[in-house]
Amino acid sequence: MVTRKMPSSLCSYVVKKNEKEFPMKVIAINGSPRQGGNTSILLQRVLAELEKAGIETETLQLGGQLVQGCTACMKCLKAKNKRCANDDDKMNEYIEKMIAADGILLGSPTYFADVSTEIKALIDRAGYVSRVNGGLLRRKVGAAVVAMRRAGSVHAFDTMNHLFTISEMIIPSSSYWNIGVGLKPGDVKDDQEGMETMRILGENMAWLLKKLHQ
Ligand SMILES: Cc1cc2nc3c(=O)[nH]c(=O)nc-3n(C[C@H](O)[C@H](O)[C@H](O)COP(=O)(O)O)c2cc1C
Repeated sequence: MVTRKMPSSLCSYVVKKNEKEFPMKVIAINGSPRQGGNTSILLQRVLAELEKAGIETETLQLGGQLVQGCTACMKCLKAKNKRCANDDDKMNEYIEKMIAADGILLGSPTYFADVSTEIKALIDRAGYVSRVNGGLLRRKVGAAVVAMRRAGSVHAFDTMNHLFTISEMIIPSSSYWNIGVGLKPGDVKDDQEGMETMRILGENMAWLLKKLHQ
């Protein structure tokens, strides 16, 4: 499922690539199989601030998709065609969207003190494709958000940040680590501090993107 939103403000921001102008765009990848669950709510809170700032957004549902992990076939290293050699699932669609975006927001629930399986598959496969093609994610803005019930979210947060930091990406921060607390879908809305952390993250991500593309 893909949800695309144009900015609500009149002024939408543009990025120049090869002398052509494109709207500035952030994609959010929801790594939770629970569509509309806590991870999704956190992501949408961040995106709302970006849209307010005139930035186009798109949400991609990854959680619940049948995606394989990296098989270490190394075919991407030979082909260098900006794609994963495994075309049996939708991973290349996510990789293409990541390459095209100015900012990437990853969201995961905490599963056994780490990210969901689907997010780990994305990190390994997109991360490798980026690296073997000379750094396709270089200088994009990246942020991670995590939903949790009780513990382990900082570890999941670190796992996603590992993709950003090895890919020469630039990470905006917030007033706390980007975590929301909740068990059942929707619970996270009651975590006022978590929701405020997401608002500030969205504001800072928009600020950073605009500075980078001034
Ligand atoms: C397989 C599984 C493992 C989980 N492991 C943890 C965990 O280690 N720590 C934690 O705080 N919550 C854990 N949870 C709870 C979820 O992280 C929590 O309910 C979260 O809000 C789910 O987000 P979602 O609504 O986006 O799916 C786990 C849930 C599942 C299904």
